[in-house]
Order: sequence, then C-alpha cells, then structure tokens
Amino acid sequence: MAKTKTIRDIEVQDKRVFVRVDFNVPLDENGKVSDNTRIVAALPTIKHLIEAGAKVILASHLGRPKGQVNPAFSLKPAAEELAVQLGMPVQFAEDCVGSDVEAAVNALQSGSVLLLENVRYHAGEEGNDPEFAKQLGSLADVFVNDAFGTAHRAHASTAGITAHVDTNVAGFLIERELAFLGDKTEEPVKPFTVILGGAKVSDKIKVIDRLLEKADNIIIGGAMAYTFALANGKKVGDSLSEPDKVDVAQSAIDKAAEKGVRFLLPIDTKITNALDFGSRSVGEVDVAEGDIPDGWEGVDIGPKTVELYKQVVAESKTVLWNGPMGVFEIEACSIGTFAVADAVAANQDAISIIGGGDSVKAIKNSGNGDKVSFISTGGGASLNFLEGKELPGVSSLDTI
Ligand code: 3PG
Repeated sequence: MAKTKTIRDIEVQDKRVFVRVDFNVPLDENGKVSDNTRIVAALPTIKHLIEAGAKVILASHLGRPKGQVNPAFSLKPAAEELAVQLGMPVQFAEDCVGSDVEAAVNALQSGSVLLLENVRYHAGEEGNDPEFAKQLGSLADVFVNDAFGTAHRAHASTAGITAHVDTNVAGFLIERELAFLGDKTEEPVKPFTVILGGAKVSDKIKVIDRLLEKADNIIIGGAMAYTFALANGKKVGDSLSEPDKVDVAQSAIDKAAEKGVRFLLPIDTKITNALDFGSRSVGEVDVAEGDIPDGWEGVDIGPKTVELYKQVVAESKTVLWNGPMGVFEIEACSIGTFAVADAVAANQDAISIIGGGDSVKAIKNSGNGDKVSFISTGGGASLNFLEGKELPGVSSLDTI
C-alpha cells in the first residue's frame, strides 16, 4: 500500500506552509482553553516547521458555528495558549481568507507563526466549496494536514484545499495516528486483544468485523454486551440493548468461532434498580450472573468479569481499547472501566493503543495517561479509521 507523504519528506525553508490543525478545544466560562491536549498534540509538527524555517500558517475549526461569524467560537484563546506552549508570539488573523489575511501571510517572516480565525465561520468550509478551498490554497506553497480529529470530514480545509496546492503532506500527529491505529493493528504483535465497549453494537459492529480478521481476543463490555447477551438467549431486564441488532451480534459471535478468535462477553454484571444519570446516582446495586431480572439494568461489568478481562489483557502483546465497560461517569458504575484502564497500563510489555472518545477520558482520569503507548486524538475519526474507512483528510494527501 502506498505510504502517505509527510513533512519529513519535504523542504519547507522560506515556504508558506498552511497547516490544518485540530484546535477544536473546550473553552471555560472565561473563554480560556480548558483542555490543551489537542494544541499540545500539534506542537511537534509546528516546532519542526518553525525550526525548518517555514512561514507557518495554522488553520482550524472550533465547535460548529454553522457558517456564521460567532465570537463564542473564536480561535483567539487557542492562539494565546499556543503562544504559551511555544514560548514565542503567535500572530492571529481575524479571518481565514480575504485581503487582510493575504497581507498578513505576505508579511510573515520565516520561522514565525500565524493562526487564522475559525474556518467554519464560512459555509464553504463544511460544504467543501471549491472556490473557498481555492482561496485557502492561494495562501500556501505547501499544505500539511495534522488534524487527525477532523480527517474523517471532507471539508475545504481538510481535503478540498489539496486540489489547489502542489505539495500536500501529513504532519507528525497524523503520521503517528496512522502508525498506531493502522500499522500496529494491521500487523499486530500477537496475542492481540481488542477491548470494545460503549452503548451500541451498531456503532462498533464494523470495527468488530474488521478486527475479527486480526485479533486473538475480542473483549466486550458496556451496554452493547446486553445485545450480545440477548443473542445468547439471556434475559437482560431493563438494560439498554438493541433487540433489532441481535442477529448482527449473533453473526459476530459465529464469525469469531469460525476464525478461532476468543470472543469474551461478561460472565457477571453489576446491576441497579434505579439509575439517574443527571444526578449521577444509582439505587440499590447487586451483581447478576446469567439473567438480569426485570426492574434491574446492567451498569458495569461484574467482579468475576473484571478478573477475567484483566488476565487476558495481561497475557497480550498488543491491546487496542475503544469504549467504556459501564456507565463510568457514575462512580458506583466505574469500577470495570477503571480496572481495564489499570490493566492496560500495567502491561508494559504490550503495545497499548487507546482509540479515542470515552476510553481516552477513562485512561487519563485513572492517572494512566502516560503509561500507554498511544492515545488517539480522534473520536469519530479513529472509529472510522478502525472500521477500515477511507479518511478524506488522509486520502487526499500525496503518497510515496
Ligand atoms: C472532533 O472534535 O471530533 C473533531 O474536531 C471534529 O469535530 P466535528 O465533529 O464538529 O466535525
């Protein structure tokens, strides 16, 4: 398979390098960046370009302003945070296209950085409008995509722009995402264990299908386990489940058996007779083995399952985790998810990959963020990629 070209492969001295980053960061009530993970994740690429003497033009979206200028979605706070992280000034342009932006780009010195205002202030961004993409492209000699979190979107600044720039490459963040989510799951060091959780079988079935070709063990947790339990003829009480997806669940179980993949479902379940997500509280709790009685719902994997899953993770050489084991936002239902987080982090002999979304929150909240091999910066993008879907923000780049 052709390899995506990266910034390692090109010269950028004195060139106008337009970098699409994913600075879609949360802001606090004072309008300051409250979680700088995505800004920090883009630093290796930005620093490399500065040191290589490029004129660095950064573009991103923040939130969903729907094609309208809306100060609540301004990237100015991201420029301030980036300046702190780089320890140098970061210029900020009030728009991402137009004559003022062109003037700012023309005045840029090599080795300096300009962040453009939110590309989603223009409807042409999400509409992937060729004219808007052309305007963005006119600012650049080189296009670098390092916005993995947005790579599943075919937008003007993630994909359309590449038709208007001669050199289109990936940054270090996308390179690492492709290496861990791609190469290391494509040809995994074995045994390879995939842990999947979350609410719906329908959300993860394509990932299960693809990874059944590669994995030795597939571990299931979260509410989707109840749909698998239905497929196995169990009763799930009032648990969240998808009765119309039982056949899908059954075919995954059958395929695993055919391929000799160990398909692990919970052997016991923590249950409650009342759950109030708003107040983060539960009523009585108990553990069910086998059927879950009416009036009760599953909220976490049970203690025997925790032990079983820990053991399988400990014996693995590659672990990919995507999705929580229970309603981990509520403390009483978080034991399974945090036990998995600890088990993944404890196996230092394994390549451990955390595939986005809630599992990233769980691994960080459990204090294990620095003990795993890789944490993806993409939610939807990592899921799409793990399903084997083409990411427009990657497939539009040059290959070697
Ligand atoms: C994300 O936060 O997942 C990315 O920045 C993409 O954002 P979007 O879902 O608004 O396109």
